[in-house]
Amino acid sequence: MTGTAVEALTEAEARAELARLAAAIAAANAAYHTLDTPEISDAEFDALKRRNAAIEARFPGLKRGDSPSDQVGAPVADGFGKVAHRVRMLSLENAFAAEEVTEFDDRVRKFLGHGGGITYTAEPKIDGLSLSLRYEGGTLVQAATRGDGEVGENVTENARTIGDIPRQVSGAPEVMEVRGEVYMAHADFAALNDRQAAAGEKTFANPRNAAAGSLRQLDAAITASRPLRFFAYAWGELSAPLAPTQMEAIRRLRVLGFQTNPLTVLCDGPEAMLAQYRLIEAQRATLGYDIDGVVYKVNELALQARLGFRSSTPRWAIAHKFPAELAWTELLGIDIQVGRTGALSPVARLKPVTVGGVVVSNATLHNEDYIAGRDSRGEVIRGGKDIRVGDWVQIYRAGDVIPKVADVDLGRRKSDAQPYVFPQVCPECGSPAHREEGDSVRRCTGGLICPAQGVERLKHFVSRGAFDIEGLGAKQVEMFFHDSILPVKTPADIFTLAARDADNPLQKLRNRDGFGEVSAAKLFAAIEARRTIPLDRLIFSLGIRHIGETSSSLLARHYGGWEKFIQAIDAARNFTGAEWDELTAIDGIGAVSARALIDALHPDSSERAEVDRLVQALSIVPVKAAATDSPVAGLTVVFTGTLEKMTRAEAKARAEALGAKVAGSVSAKTDLVVAGPGAGSKAKDAERLGVRLIDEDAWLALIGG
Ligand code: IVH
Repeated sequence: MTGTAVEALTEAEARAELARLAAAIAAANAAYHTLDTPEISDAEFDALKRRNAAIEARFPGLKRGDSPSDQVGAPVADGFGKVAHRVRMLSLENAFAAEEVTEFDDRVRKFLGHGGGITYTAEPKIDGLSLSLRYEGGTLVQAATRGDGEVGENVTENARTIGDIPRQVSGAPEVMEVRGEVYMAHADFAALNDRQAAAGEKTFANPRNAAAGSLRQLDAAITASRPLRFFAYAWGELSAPLAPTQMEAIRRLRVLGFQTNPLTVLCDGPEAMLAQYRLIEAQRATLGYDIDGVVYKVNELALQARLGFRSSTPRWAIAHKFPAELAWTELLGIDIQVGRTGALSPVARLKPVTVGGVVVSNATLHNEDYIAGRDSRGEVIRGGKDIRVGDWVQIYRAGDVIPKVADVDLGRRKSDAQPYVFPQVCPECGSPAHREEGDSVRRCTGGLICPAQGVERLKHFVSRGAFDIEGLGAKQVEMFFHDSILPVKTPADIFTLAARDADNPLQKLRNRDGFGEVSAAKLFAAIEARRTIPLDRLIFSLGIRHIGETSSSLLARHYGGWEKFIQAIDAARNFTGAEWDELTAIDGIGAVSARALIDALHPDSSERAEVDRLVQALSIVPVKAAATDSPVAGLTVVFTGTLEKMTRAEAKARAEALGAKVAGSVSAKTDLVVAGPGAGSKAKDAERLGVRLIDEDAWLALIGG
């Protein structure tokens, strides 16, 4: 790893070595935090990081998006015990423009069928990391990070060292989970970095990283030495409500001894919300800690309960983000990356520049239209200015999102700068790269023959939320993909690895570089263990466009088992009919995702043949519907006519939360039709088909009010 002197490396060697270093450092990190016996010494680890930094300093344009130099002080999650959150920790929907705030209010009122005004709280969105504190009988018994929202890390000892977090509270409900943000103030952050630098330790890129790195320390004594603070703004499980409104609940938390943000106010509608947004934005620079927007929440907790949640965000709150931070730098080159769906993505290689405390050397250029100065509808953006290699460009970065090239300075353009010509063939496999009508993305048509797509699909397949096979990460996937003895070109090949190795008497995996008896056996066992896989993970792992973890889980919950799912997709393939209607009626699955699913799984495609081959090798665990113990779980319900006690959207959301399927039209498969006044043909269909027909009150009685 430390062969050639950095000064002597060619660019290609440097690129390859940075990739190797990133993998080695990630592996060492994982080993350190998951096993008691780290695989390399601290000194070796530091040497890897130093060499990585030296190569990056010499070739700034090659710095990777996942560069280990950007991963400061945040140990990986596996070093901590896990805590299953009793009430999920959600994230927030984002708004950027004022209209989106007005639309949010419209949506809330429409959902509730509320003619008049709704009252909201507005408060700063703190740029830190969220923490859930559990109190039992007034004593802090557990603190957990958000993790993936369902399971977080147990950081109880660390939280106990934070001054703003009371260890005892009096007058609280018997069980009370208080949630809020751990953050670091600017002055404390600067002083910490000075101390770190003086001690020859790592410094942090920004206060949020510093807060995260300080809280997620395996040694609580280190956390104790770091100046962390905490604002309370929400709650999880409660044995008794804190108050009837958000504002009063926050006040109650303050009385109990928590810090709550003093800029929290009540607003009687969008105008007041936007006024408060401007007020908070004006104070942003002088607050002394980072905030990245304003959060609005419906004030009445009873209304919050009625509004409920989408898959990962509440319907009753929204984060109105501040405009991102900006900086200017030189565009050194444009690289094309080929993703797992064949999308050709242009990436800007930049002269490194600091944007909001973080060094940026890569940024997305989205697609060819964006480079040419047009948006996805063909309309002019940036006044029609195109982007050329050598230009001075403005970089835009907000929070954790990938930096973007936002603007170009024509005044500094060199006279010989040439317009960028977007490749018409895939740079990885040479297949034609096409754009479909209405699609802004040019895609490689190579499908399974394109190595870049193949590798990216496999990487996705083995990733965390998908098959998550231990010992088979991105690095090993690259290796097996190009391997001539045990090639793995598609997911199904993974499950024949052990058998193929057994059949090959000469070149066993265990005798090869990087493997041994134990690691080869472990890998085969890890693969074997994943032959049994839950349906939602399987769907997600297929890496279909628009089908992320949320959609996969919705589909799995809706169809329950693979057979039902795939038959439904096949039956919906003409984009009409009952199955198509059923698919697109799933809350969260729109026509675009449905089409993508059908296209990707088309029975005539070679991709489908591979999926079928994969499925043959697996034992797929069905997924239970959202709730199975409710009286309507598993029933297919149709609402028709005017509902008087709730809106259609609310009725649908509640029915689905109780495990029912809500369909748009009545068929022989419908179990129940709920008809309000003015119900027309659907009620008649129900009678004709002998489907049970009830009114809204009977429905409410059935689901328990
Ligand atoms: S409320 C169910 N309020 O923003 C909603 N979140 O993007 C719970 N955050 O994970 C969150 N300040 O870490 C809420 N005043 C605030 C916040 C806030 C910061 C964070 C929080 C959350 C993330 C969502």
